Amino acid sequence: MKIKAAVLNQVGTPFTIETLDLEPPRTGEVLVKVKAAGVCHSDYHLRTGDTKHVLPVVPGHEGSGIVAEVGPGVNRVQPGDAVVLNWAPNCGTCYYCLHDRPNLCTTYVGPLWAGTMLDGTTRLSRDGAPVYHFSGVACFAEYVVVPEISCVPMTHDIPLEVGALVGCAVTTGVGAALNTARIKPGSSVAVFGAGGVGLSIIMGARLAGASQIIAVDRAEAKGAIALTFGATDFIMAGPQVPQTVRDMTEGRGADYVFEAIGIPAVQEQCLETVRPGGTLVLVGVSPMGSSTNLPGAVITRQEKTVTGSYYGTAHTTRDFPLYLDMYRRGLLDLDRLVSRTYRLQELNEAFADMLSGEIARGVILFD
Ligand SMILES: NC(=O)c1ccc[n+]([C@@H]2O[C@H](COP(=O)([O-])OP(=O)(O)OC[C@H]3O[C@@H](n4cnc5c(N)ncnc54)[C@H](O)[C@@H]3O)[C@@H](O)[C@H]2O)c1
Ligand SMILES: [Zn+2]
Ligand SMILES: [Zn+2]
Repeated sequence: MKIKAAVLNQVGTPFTIETLDLEPPRTGEVLVKVKAAGVCHSDYHLRTGDTKHVLPVVPGHEGSGIVAEVGPGVNRVQPGDAVVLNWAPNCGTCYYCLHDRPNLCTTYVGPLWAGTMLDGTTRLSRDGAPVYHFSGVACFAEYVVVPEISCVPMTHDIPLEVGALVGCAVTTGVGAALNTARIKPGSSVAVFGAGGVGLSIIMGARLAGASQIIAVDRAEAKGAIALTFGATDFIMAGPQVPQTVRDMTEGRGADYVFEAIGIPAVQEQCLETVRPGGTLVLVGVSPMGSSTNLPGAVITRQEKTVTGSYYGTAHTTRDFPLYLDMYRRGLLDLDRLVSRTYRLQELNEAFADMLSGEIARGVILFD
């Protein structure tokens, strides 16, 4: 079938909206009519080249939609089902899946980073030449073919744009707070970067009962936004931040600090902001090949813990329904997180708004 999709043809150039060919789903695959796709910074990293990927690629990994057709052998979903798309499908049988870390599943890492389906081929093409799928999802497109295990059913009473955000920002951020850091009630927390991911960390910290949640961002507009999601304080980014946080925490520094931007110099400043014995959680994705210079002697003497957090240490089939249920019960304010909506043709404008720091999360809506 012919579909409209956003394509990155060359690093450093805008996404172009093009007509591509999409093959029907093969064994274990599903055709989904995309309804909503969130504008996540991880897609923008493709455009800058901070994340290297085979080109041309269709970006988009934070999506939801309605199942249109299933390939042979599919039994998890059927046509008409509403689904949230999972960008890190897990096999259920590898070492990590069996050790309660399905977000680190190694079985599909090869094909996913090669931009193909799990069998090593693409369903997308242009004039007979392959076009690659970002993270097995490629949802800045009217339709996607995805592995069955990338489809997590959601109930029809929840808006599909909310479902889309659960597919990345919410699971990444809330999960970083609840699963990776396991924030204790009464803690002090600092979150650097108040984008879709950082705001979700703030919501997770609040759910965990943190007493003090300090948001840090370079965009002034993020101050008011962060406070509505549960931050208790906002600080403008700058060299003074570690000292300001110490002043706000009886001289110690924060119990937990999250970096949700992906800049090595900010990650270094985050370590300074953690109290002795506290935890730094790296959530932002820094440029491939870059290094962060963290002082080993400080980490040793002050017993600071530094950990990564990938997809919120999630178990997606467990956590997507959990967060959707929390939304339904009013515990996660995901309507407010969808702060501006766009058409696919406006994708570059949506990324410009993301970079300006004026909005919480942009979402592309499809018919
Ligand atoms: N670990 C994971 O599994 C995972 C999942 C999704 C996204 N990410 C990564 O998380 C990061 C954030 O994603 P997002 O979609 O929320 O991005 P975003 O662009 O929406 O938000 C980033 C925020 O950081 C602020 N910022 C930028 N530079 C800053 C600086 N020097 N100091 C202070 N604030 C600054 C921006 O104003 C913005 O508010 C990205 O690197 C993304 O790739 C990681
Ligand atoms: Zn994302
Ligand atoms: Zn696995």
